[in-house]
Amino acid sequence: MSEVRGSWGSKLGFILAASGSAIGLGNIVFFSSNAYKYGGGAFYLPYLVALFLIGIPVMILELGAGRFSRRSMPNALYTIAGKRAELAGWFGALNATIITMYYIAILAWILGMWVGSLGALWRSSAVAAFGVADGEMTNSMSYFFNMISSSNPMIYVVLIWMANILIIIRGAKSIEAVVKIFVPLMWLMMIVLIIRGVTLPGGPEGILYLFTPDFSVIGDVGIWKGAFSQMFFTLSLGFGIMMAYASYLPKKNDDVLSATTISLLNCSFEFIAGLAIFSLLFAFAIAPKASSLSMIFFVVPEGIAEFPVLVGLFGFLFFTLLLMAGLTSSVSLVESVVLSVIDKFRVSRSKVLVGMFCVGLAGSLLFVLPEVVDPGLKDDGTLGFSLVDLLDHWAFGYGLLICGLLEILIIGWLYDIDALLEFVNKNARIKLGAKFKALVRYVLPVVVLSILVLSIIDEYRGGLYGNAMETGRFESLYLLAFFGWLAFSIGGAILFTVLKRRDGSGEAS
Ligand code: TRP
Repeated sequence: MSEVRGSWGSKLGFILAASGSAIGLGNIVFFSSNAYKYGGGAFYLPYLVALFLIGIPVMILELGAGRFSRRSMPNALYTIAGKRAELAGWFGALNATIITMYYIAILAWILGMWVGSLGALWRSSAVAAFGVADGEMTNSMSYFFNMISSSNPMIYVVLIWMANILIIIRGAKSIEAVVKIFVPLMWLMMIVLIIRGVTLPGGPEGILYLFTPDFSVIGDVGIWKGAFSQMFFTLSLGFGIMMAYASYLPKKNDDVLSATTISLLNCSFEFIAGLAIFSLLFAFAIAPKASSLSMIFFVVPEGIAEFPVLVGLFGFLFFTLLLMAGLTSSVSLVESVVLSVIDKFRVSRSKVLVGMFCVGLAGSLLFVLPEVVDPGLKDDGTLGFSLVDLLDHWAFGYGLLICGLLEILIIGWLYDIDALLEFVNKNARIKLGAKFKALVRYVLPVVVLSILVLSIIDEYRGGLYGNAMETGRFESLYLLAFFGWLAFSIGGAILFTVLKRRDGSGEAS
């Protein structure tokens, strides 16, 4: 089977690919905005608890299950518990597809900023379509809104999709070739940015903010929910991405060690990214805005533009870093979906790639629609940007956690968990015992379920739902996004589950 599906050339290749998947926009953008939102240092305690309680354990499960079954998630789940479990797997794959669509739209905007960082971004430009007072508009902000309300991002989306398809064209092999260059470069660029940030006058204060704990917010459930969802997203857990990557591993591997390494690499990157961004923002007394996306698009560039020298170079470095980090993550999302289809239907990779390109591109184009819906820029400006927010709310906010919960329940209760642990223990230096099993069976489901329930309560109490209903402005979009998400992920999951399997009915090979 390995000849058909391919495999990693080396363990280092696997670690780089998995950490490349984990390290993405989540590490640079969402972490910093969460940390800021929840009072800097206070975020660390829940974050570390989430890392050890849920992050590393779920990562071990995904690696173990992927290597054990040598299949991508829907197919691995099918071999464990039949069609019911397979349905959950496809629900994950389709949510992953939606996330990929807007993740790539965001990358397309980043490509636009990257192009801008070559010059235009640092000069002021008129913002015709938006009615924002001149004084409130910075150069980077006006460049950004000009760009997203133009049709250029449609071209960028095509380019980013092509890059994704090219990187996974030969599966593990071509992914490995790219991550070997990109992942070390990402670290290097991050280190350059952090050195620049902390040596700026005022920079250390940002770091102080990040480190000064404010324990008064620890009792707030929001901060725990934020930390646990962040952990799922940043470690690429829940959709079986790590399962797909681990299915390319050789028979022998220390999954406990690999899971710990990948998770710690990811979280330390996130940590130093936080240092860089906070020192930058504080050096120029710029407060991050509520929306995390605006943070990359204009708050950080605003800081960079204040650099006394070499503005263009650092700006260029920053957007190159975002592009690389984003690409190594988006390819993992695309690859896990592609592999799920290949595993089940035994169709050639090239055919699946063509299909994925067409469907994915169509979706991503929707998210870069330049139609201006919010000229006052109170929210997101364009229709596409609003759709990103709304679908992120459903596919990430709910989809990811629902998938994570189902995955944990299936592995914990329907799987022969003892056999899985024994399989992992065979090659692991640190052995997993009864405590780990209890963690998987009882603690993890309760924790994830609680987060979900809290989110639903929030939703009705005010959250986005309340907002949408109050202003009336996004009401129809909000409902459209909700039903679109439901139809695509559940309808699609049913379709893929009932279609006939062509892999010899799923016995493990
Ligand atoms: N982990 C990536 C990030 O931090 C994003 C990502 C890639 C992801 N694959 C995923 C998130 C799977 C959830 C599930 O940006």
